[in-house]
Amino acid sequence: MDSPTASPGDTKGREAAAIPATSLPGSKAPAVVQLLSYWTNPQAFVEKRRERYGPRFQVSIRIPARPVYMLTSPEDVKAMFLAPADVLHTGTGSATIEKWTGTSGLAWLDEDAHKVRRKLLMPSYHGAALMRIGEAIPRMAKEDVASWPRGKDMPLHPHIHRFTLHVIREVVYGSRTPRRWEELLDLLLQMMEFNNSIASPMMLHKMPPRVLKLFRSIKSLGLENFLQLRDKADALIYETIEEHRESDYRGDDLLSVLLGITHEDDGTPLSPREIRDEMMTIFLAGTETTAAAMAWTFEYLTRHPEALKRLRDEIDAGESDAYLMAVINEVLRLRPSIPNIIVREVKKPIEIGGVQFEPGMHLWASAYLVNHDKSTYENPDEFRPERFLDSKPGTFTWIPFGGGRIRCIGDKIALLEMKAVIKEVLTQCELERPDPRPEEAKSRIVVNVPSKFTRVVLRDRVRETSMA
Ligand code: HEM
Repeated sequence: MDSPTASPGDTKGREAAAIPATSLPGSKAPAVVQLLSYWTNPQAFVEKRRERYGPRFQVSIRIPARPVYMLTSPEDVKAMFLAPADVLHTGTGSATIEKWTGTSGLAWLDEDAHKVRRKLLMPSYHGAALMRIGEAIPRMAKEDVASWPRGKDMPLHPHIHRFTLHVIREVVYGSRTPRRWEELLDLLLQMMEFNNSIASPMMLHKMPPRVLKLFRSIKSLGLENFLQLRDKADALIYETIEEHRESDYRGDDLLSVLLGITHEDDGTPLSPREIRDEMMTIFLAGTETTAAAMAWTFEYLTRHPEALKRLRDEIDAGESDAYLMAVINEVLRLRPSIPNIIVREVKKPIEIGGVQFEPGMHLWASAYLVNHDKSTYENPDEFRPERFLDSKPGTFTWIPFGGGRIRCIGDKIALLEMKAVIKEVLTQCELERPDPRPEEAKSRIVVNVPSKFTRVVLRDRVRETSMA
């Protein structure tokens, strides 16, 4: 049972001496109990604690156990995003996805090393590359959506997820599709099934070998299967790297860019393992997030026929995408794919909102709670895209893409994907919802998805023809 350990940290006491973070309130329940509670209902988990403890509190949902300090107000998030690079690190914040990404890629770097790598990778996400990807996306969306089953009660998420991987193929390999891409795609999708397991956020690399062995032996956790699939996928990824290297093709695709990067200190090229880590980061970070956001979009639209109609009318008219953008912004507000953004590790003492955080402590900003802040949003739990028709999302009050130095590098690609798929589905299909009840949020590694993966029936749209 939860029990407060102190009164909530209070922003009003700013002039007073900062209180130590260790005195922040939080549950005393064992980490495994908290993890279970978070896993089964991630939103209620943070909402209840925010209500009970105030804007700053401790949670312990990591295995192996350690406390994490949650920040939930725009002011605290701003201080966190703007802290100098040597005060807060994000590299260790990706520990839960190490089993996918390894430890050498962008998500693991800090300070100058992060700045340099991000700058080097940027050309594969922006400028000419973004234009190429932006041209490919609507074409891919049209073909993909046309192939999705009709007249069948089905979860939409797996179809959307497959589409997002096609897009990432374009980002990673450009127009040069690897020979065994379809095999790799299937393996990656099978691996991602493991993300539904409660073992998916566990930090395997921090576990003593005997504990890891025990978890591997529990079949229902899916860990053993995941690790075997990973070996196969890695072998294929290395093959695609060699295929690309041996070709004379060099473009602005991520793999070409990675093959051209050299280490600053000794001028040596990135190793195949380092290249693999960057690729796997994008296979995961670039697809789970976008697929979740799109699944939520259809979950909401099928429960709000007036919004669906307004959006379809706008798409049919083809003159503006103002309402489409408002719908996307509203879904990302209500259901940020990563409900609690990447953990920051304190490297030098920092005071945030009258609380003193010391080196070694971990800070976790809740995008979900910030995006639902009553002082920013009227009726924050309601789906009201109109709120974004006349006002843009705020930098520190709407944070689905995080912020500061590690703000999502693929945000523009994600928005292009969302726009194209929503347009295509509404243009090609009627959507029927077999069960009118809202789908709750369900954890899937670090993202939240609709609990039934957005169950719908798609039917070919019958267009009214003019009799005039
Ligand atoms: C709706 C879709 C997406 C959402 C909601 C999302 C969200 C996020 C968030 C919250 C972060 C961490 C930021 C922070 O903690 O401050 C992040 C980082 C990142 N995202 Fe995304 N993302 C999405 C799509 C994508 C796509 C499509 C790609 C790649 C094509 C991508 C690649 C990355 C990478 C590489 C990072 C790490 C950046 C760094 O360390 O500098 N994301 N994303």
